[in-house]
Amino acid sequence: MLAVIGGTGVYQLVEKGEELESLVINTPYGNSPEITRFLMDDVELVFMPRHQAVHDTPPHMINYRANVYALQKLGVTRIIATNAVGSLDENLKPGTFLAPDDFLDFTYKRPVTFYDDRTVHVDVTEPYCNHLRKVLVSSGRVVDGGVYLCTEGPRFETPAEIRMFCKLGGTVVGMTGLPEVVLARELSMCYTSVCTVSNYAASISPDKITIDEVFEIIEEKKKELTDLLRNTILKIPKERHCLCADAMKGAEIE
Ligand code: HPA
Repeated sequence: MLAVIGGTGVYQLVEKGEELESLVINTPYGNSPEITRFLMDDVELVFMPRHQAVHDTPPHMINYRANVYALQKLGVTRIIATNAVGSLDENLKPGTFLAPDDFLDFTYKRPVTFYDDRTVHVDVTEPYCNHLRKVLVSSGRVVDGGVYLCTEGPRFETPAEIRMFCKLGGTVVGMTGLPEVVLARELSMCYTSVCTVSNYAASISPDKITIDEVFEIIEEKKKELTDLLRNTILKIPKERHCLCADAMKGAEIE
């Protein structure tokens, strides 16, 4: 089963398909947001609004463990996440889609693992599923690869932070990509993300960043993003041919 995790402003994918049911999953970490099971051209999938449909949960307060655990409980093995990001690269304009292939984690107060009771070190040499990303980038206009740098938020960044993030090799900056990608890996799922560049990061553009500007771009790109997701969903092979299912091999002392 495939899941789409909808980020800021992405709630409309279900309207393109046929809704089957909507459900809240109980997990050891708390309840999930309302998840919709639906059909898109005969492909069954689930949609989860990351920030929840009713309350607007800010990035640093999202219960990432409950979200990812709930998807596993539903039998999900593959996730396509959508994220809004700021661009750290002048050549990467607002409105661009990008699928990252690596990350830098600057979050510092989120629960980051399902393994708090024993020592488990998951390998993240390939944090995002290459196979799923290739299907995604062949389904529309998407930049293939880049480093997603995740901040704790909820504030935007200072100019000095952005200068540092550029020097460190970040491509885009967001607040919701971590620890979601790692938690998915700990559950041996394939995970890819399609990031919508909603603005230039602080100080790269001389103007101050506003949330209205972020939402405006997301709104503008909504149809294109939905089409991209739909094309991707229809192209994903039934069987997994990647190594994600073995992600936990070697992560723990036998
Ligand atoms: N910084 C952090 N998160 C973001 C940004 C940004 O500039 N734009 C959208 N999400």
